[in-house]
Amino acid sequence: MQYFDEVYRGTPPWDIGRPQPEVVRLEESGAILGRVLDLGCGTGENLLYLAARGHDCVGVDFAPAAVRRAIEKAAGRVPMPRFEVRSALDVGAALGAFDTVLDCGLFHTLHDRHRPLYARSVREALRPGGRFFVLCFSEREPAEWGGPRRVTRDELRATFGPELHARQIRPIRFETNFPDIEGHGWLAEFERLPGERPGPGAAPTPPGTGGDAR
Ligand SMILES: C[S@@+](CC[C@H](N)C(=O)[O-])C[C@H]1O[C@@H](n2cnc3c(N)ncnc32)[C@H](O)[C@@H]1O
Repeated sequence: MQYFDEVYRGTPPWDIGRPQPEVVRLEESGAILGRVLDLGCGTGENLLYLAARGHDCVGVDFAPAAVRRAIEKAAGRVPMPRFEVRSALDVGAALGAFDTVLDCGLFHTLHDRHRPLYARSVREALRPGGRFFVLCFSEREPAEWGGPRRVTRDELRATFGPELHARQIRPIRFETNFPDIEGHGWLAEFERLPGERPGPGAAPTPPGTGGDAR
């Protein structure tokens, strides 16, 4: 947490001063539904955009400096998203139920030991039928410049499935403040299926499933 709080005293490489284009594409395509929770919201650009599009929005981040900036940016906006300093690992049902949970750049910063806690927190925050979108760096991104962990499709499926059903995992590009960063990532869309938790290998495929979840 200390790293993040310090980096927010300046402008972090990911804080591009506007929503990530892939988040805009999701919203414009109608994929983002209803009440939205943004986990690791940073200074709030994605959520300010989604609130302006009419979503009821809550953002959490464990870095107080990020949340302070988000609250400053949100001042006077109508409707105003709510921002809280809170760990994403134990949000669960504490903030109510959400139709959409968004993670734009948090998951790829987590240690292995935190992944199961995070997956449970996401699942508990989602309404049955709700969607979870995670945008993370992929193994296609060159390693030389350091940065967060690179994540594979298998890791995404292993962390969030089978309790969450993978509707699609497709390549995207992150925008950053550094043109040298290629920004190869994944956009994964998971659904909390209505009804009982599916057992391994028994996950039904919801109708209309597009994309490539292999
Ligand atoms: C790469 S930044 C992305 C910020 C923002 N989503 C964006 O797109 O600009 C990752 C964010 O996740 C936050 N974060 C990392 N681990 C977290 C945790 N366990 N709980 C809450 N926030 C966390 C960091 O403080 C940071 O703001």
